[in-house]
Amino acid sequence: MNVDKLDATARRLVADSKGILAADESSRTIAKRLESIGIPSTERTRREWRELLFTTPNIQRFISGVILFDETIRQNASDGTPFPKLLWRKGIIPGIKVDTGVYPFAEHPGEKLTEGLDGLRERLVEYVELGAQFSKWRAVISIGEGIPTQACIDANAHTLARFALLSQEAGLVPIVEPEVLMEGNHPIERHAQETERTLAAVFDALQTDRITLRGIILKPNMVASGLEAKVQANPTVVAQATIRVLRKVVPPEVPGIVFLSGGLTPEQATVNLHAINSQGKQPWQLSYSFGRALQGEALSAWGGKSEHLKAAQEEFYTRAKLVSLARDGGLEKST
Ligand code: G3H
Repeated sequence: MNVDKLDATARRLVADSKGILAADESSRTIAKRLESIGIPSTERTRREWRELLFTTPNIQRFISGVILFDETIRQNASDGTPFPKLLWRKGIIPGIKVDTGVYPFAEHPGEKLTEGLDGLRERLVEYVELGAQFSKWRAVISIGEGIPTQACIDANAHTLARFALLSQEAGLVPIVEPEVLMEGNHPIERHAQETERTLAAVFDALQTDRITLRGIILKPNMVASGLEAKVQANPTVVAQATIRVLRKVVPPEVPGIVFLSGGLTPEQATVNLHAINSQGKQPWQLSYSFGRALQGEALSAWGGKSEHLKAAQEEFYTRAKLVSLARDGGLEKST
């Protein structure tokens, strides 16, 4: 294993002012997104949407890497250039989501387990040939009455570690994503408690499996109030709770932490990231790997119409710029 190469890729992904675009929605999820703007999800519309994002002029100022879906890494832009090549030309590192989705965890009502380990070693070799330099696996932990169970947390932590080990063996930087969902009406304290419990189990599993921590990126949720909670913690409280949990459980060797947006609006995710990066110096880079929070406004502006392409790219560029400023704790400079 070339640890220095993994380390260099991880550091490039969390370089100053930059973060990752998550464009790895599964076929089902992207269908929901496209249908929300009134267009059907077809191979063509999915390709057109992703091409619009990837070809946004100068987006490489704020985007270090893009997470692709299996279909997307094999697609070409309208001029015939394969998407991974198009991204490399802009200095953006292509990555790939390698889990195959979440399924009910047998005998554990309301809980999910992520699948995709079968045949993963061979798939990773192919993704490297297609141009990927990093990989992603998402585990989902739900909060509710009596859940998460320790069994669910441990099973997901174990599969994340297996994924990370195979990725590093293949030369890919694993993005380890244990998402403790914000869905629900729980107070922020409960989200903090379950996030800490989950991350502790994940790092335990990673260390047991001898993962090289300087060659991974952690992609967690911010610690926040449940999306349906009546009382919503403000960005400073979110930032303090998030940093408190991360400092307890994330070893300093990890080069970077990139947050998911998890259903927060683009504005909320941006302001929270700014608050997190205003809490003083931390051992890791604190950046972003948003899906919805980076794409939402551009998707609405596009509406599937070619005459709106430029306006949609401007929306994407503007949001990415704001998120980048927030990542450096410099959001107020934009106002
Ligand atoms: O796995 C989830 C995505 O990579 C992040 O998406 O920012 O919309 O939660 P999100």
